[in-house]
Amino acid sequence: MILAISGSLRRDSLNSAALRAAARAAARSALEVVIDTSPAILPPFSPDLESEPPEPVLRFRRACECAEAILLAVPEYAFGIPGAFKNALDWTVGSGSLYRKPIALLSVAPPGRGAHVTQALDAVFTGLDGDVAHYVVPVVAADRGADGEVRDPRIVEALQAVVTELWAHARSRSAETQTPLRSVRHT
Ligand SMILES: Cc1cc2nc3c(=O)[nH]c(=O)nc-3n(C[C@H](O)[C@H](O)[C@H](O)COP(=O)(O)O)c2cc1C
Repeated sequence: MILAISGSLRRDSLNSAALRAAARAAARSALEVVIDTSPAILPPFSPDLESEPPEPVLRFRRACECAEAILLAVPEYAFGIPGAFKNALDWTVGSGSLYRKPIALLSVAPPGRGAHVTQALDAVFTGLDGDVAHYVVPVVAADRGADGEVRDPRIVEALQAVVTELWAHARSRSAETQTPLRSVRHT
């Protein structure tokens, strides 16, 4: 199972729409992508809560730990990581729930945008020994249909390629032979 997490809490989020499209595309290849919306409900991280983490935190950690791979789509806010999403990441540090996970960082920002959030996420996942690959599949508001969903065949195909490659990598990787995911760019 691939766990997909959006870094945006916005109702009409392009990042969230891209992940939903990726999940639908993955289903066509019989791949399971489960969308997790925990960043919207996790309490603010405090080390004081680590001894008895709140239930939503435990559920989020379990979901991360059960996933073979993680698909993230995170917008750039104020030259960095959106607070709610960073808060979710902070909750995984003590538990190691994302430690060494294969992670695809999907950027839906227009070309040339979002470099700061990518850099910030890379720094976080370096600390977690994450196995990170970067993908760029630009999505703009006009790419969504009347129902708010992304169905443009070129975008859907690119998203399907992302999940297929992430899944193949996750399945082929063993604890001993960890080959980094190669970064590819879909435009
Ligand atoms: C509070 C805020 C701060 C932002 N800061 C940046 C920024 O520093 N750099 C950037 O390229 N875009 C910035 N943006 C634009 C968002 O990254 C962009 O709107 C993105 O599409 C939001 O993702 P979403 O559609 O999934 O919510 C900002 C947007 C907001 C609301």
